[in-house]
Amino acid sequence: MPLVTSQEMFKKAYKGGYAIGAFNVNNMEIIQGITEAAGELNAPLILQVSKGARSYANHTYLVKLVEAALIENDIPICLHLDHGDSFELCKSCIDGGFTSVMIDKSGLPLAENIIETRKVVEYAHDHGVVVEAELGTLAGIEDEVNVKAEDSSYTRPEDVQEFVEKTGCDSLAIAIGTSHGAYKFKPGTNPQLRFDILEEVEKRLPGFPIVLHGASSVPQDFVKAINEHGGNMPGAIGVPEDQLRKAASMAVCKINIDSDLRLAMTACIREYMDAHPDHFDPRQYLKPAREAIKAMVAHKIVDVLGCNGKA
Ligand code: G3H
Ligand code: 13P
Ligand code: ZN
Repeated sequence: MPLVTSQEMFKKAYKGGYAIGAFNVNNMEIIQGITEAAGELNAPLILQVSKGARSYANHTYLVKLVEAALIENDIPICLHLDHGDSFELCKSCIDGGFTSVMIDKSGLPLAENIIETRKVVEYAHDHGVVVEAELGTLAGIEDEVNVKAEDSSYTRPEDVQEFVEKTGCDSLAIAIGTSHGAYKFKPGTNPQLRFDILEEVEKRLPGFPIVLHGASSVPQDFVKAINEHGGNMPGAIGVPEDQLRKAASMAVCKINIDSDLRLAMTACIREYMDAHPDHFDPRQYLKPAREAIKAMVAHKIVDVLGCNGKA
């Protein structure tokens, strides 16, 4: 099956009260772990590539690895650019075979965000590609996204209709309290997503797919395992999974997960290396690491997203 856009996936997910997992990919083992889990569970899938992933692994390698995954797994897969920061980057991914792009101009004032997003939408739609945009800003740090907590802001529901009408975007990422990375909330606090904002957005955009970024749950077992095997991750907690399930039953059709895969993979490799200090063949530790990714994705699909059997 060729790559697909997320259009049909989102339509079914909205109606069915579940969400599609959008997992970040950076290398072959990550792609294999994710797609094997989704393939076995017959789940539709979004594989997303950040600007940082693209410069780490190279556009062509990632596209070809995803094409290989399509041959090996009979499920619909959408290949998406995560946090595109310019028209040029979006255009390059559209021209290079992606079926979906995100243009993230959420740091700009509304009017400028609309103009920049519209430009990408026009080019993308002319090429059969769908566009995710963002309103409101999430806190957090990755290679290419760095927003301080004091500069983050919740989405204003009163802006969403105008934004979607004027840009023509196909899905909208909103800020309701999640953030990027492994350090989302202070330990000891009680994370609470702003479902009131999500409800307001849903009322103003009935049937329109909403996206949740920064949705890793940061399992404490993995943080502990990393720290017990030579790591040094200070305390951090993520988004409670029951709140993600609730979001998935509402208008949220796409849930972005990256940090949890990083934690699963790194915990596994650290444990392995500690237990086998004489091993030096990368296949020996990457094989269980790939299985750890697969187990994490299977858990998310079945227990959080609810998209198993929906391919
Ligand atoms: O939200 C961004 C993703 O977690 C990707 O992070 O820019 O470090 O590849 P990255
Ligand atoms: P996490 O850092 O919570 O996994 O979020 C990933 C993300 O939003 C990618 O766009
Ligand atoms: Zn994100």
